[in-house]
Amino acid sequence: MTKVKFLVLSLLITAVTMNAQVKNNFINEPQADFENRMQWFTDAGYGMFIHFGLYSQLGGVWKGDSIDGYSEWIQSKADIASQEYAMLTHTFNPVDFDAEFIVKTAKAAGMKYLVITTKHHEGFCLWDSKYTNFDVASTPFKRDILAELSASCKKHGIRFGTYYSIIDWHHPSQERNIDGNDGWGWWAEIRMKTGRKQEYITYMKNQIKELIDNYDTDILWFDGDWVHWWNNEVGTDLYNYIRGLKPEIIINNRVAKRSNFTKDFGTPEQVHLDEAVNYEWEACYTINGSWGYKIADTNWKQPQEIYDKLKDINAKGGNLLLNIGPDGNGNIPEESVRVLLEAGGMLNKK
Ligand code: GLC
Repeated sequence: MTKVKFLVLSLLITAVTMNAQVKNNFINEPQADFENRMQWFTDAGYGMFIHFGLYSQLGGVWKGDSIDGYSEWIQSKADIASQEYAMLTHTFNPVDFDAEFIVKTAKAAGMKYLVITTKHHEGFCLWDSKYTNFDVASTPFKRDILAELSASCKKHGIRFGTYYSIIDWHHPSQERNIDGNDGWGWWAEIRMKTGRKQEYITYMKNQIKELIDNYDTDILWFDGDWVHWWNNEVGTDLYNYIRGLKPEIIINNRVAKRSNFTKDFGTPEQVHLDEAVNYEWEACYTINGSWGYKIADTNWKQPQEIYDKLKDINAKGGNLLLNIGPDGNGNIPEESVRVLLEAGGMLNKK
């Protein structure tokens, strides 16, 4: 090849790859396109969060001891080894789980969308995933919870969203804190083993593709971005990958570092903003004190408080994502149903 030919060829290759990069740079989409994509979400204002997993069976109790903190953190707080924790798959059998009831309750409460923990930090998957056996298909229950829930959502006109944890206490690429208990237990700052990160990112991408292809999720809601091995570079790569699969999807800011990443929306937790800001946001709150089902926690927020919060949040341009935690049988605690419906009644009246 002559020098000139070589130069032309390499210029061509550079142009083609640059073009591919630009096409996949969804972060810098024009403001009008962004607003269009976000429209249903900003109009929605109010959604239901659902924390459900193996931990729901424990209700915050490990070997007779009530463990403090959020119940879905029990593996970290009580420092339960992965193998022992995995035994919970043998008893996972939420026979009362009723997607229709959940979705109808959300609708009657005035909620327009729902986000469920498809894989919380524990790593257990609520759907039948090709990429792991640590999933609902390997339990006595066997039924695919996401399939049931996404079908009910479609039927009742409720948007369907999926929470997916970046950290994974079960995946072999990661290992328990070596620096000890940091207040969030022994697993919060879980380490990525040397040389295993790429394999784990591939696992994440494969699973996220399942959530999009098989359950047509409308929102990808990440969490666990605080570990030092997760940064804005991998986060934006993941963001672009997901938008490449489903351009109209909405992704929360914890896909990258929540402290300085605001797309597609910010996620204040158990607090909300005092005034409108120049980015979209959604405040998430527990209805009692825990996200996952916790037997000892009966500190229910009352309908008036929910109503006031929602109005305040909406007035400042945010959404409210209010959580419920079904128990190990799949039942939503009666008190939370009552509070949701009464607050919904107040919304209808005013
Ligand atoms: C916190 C908790 C987590 C929960 C999340 C919801 O990050 O650690 O368990 O899922 O809040 O925003």
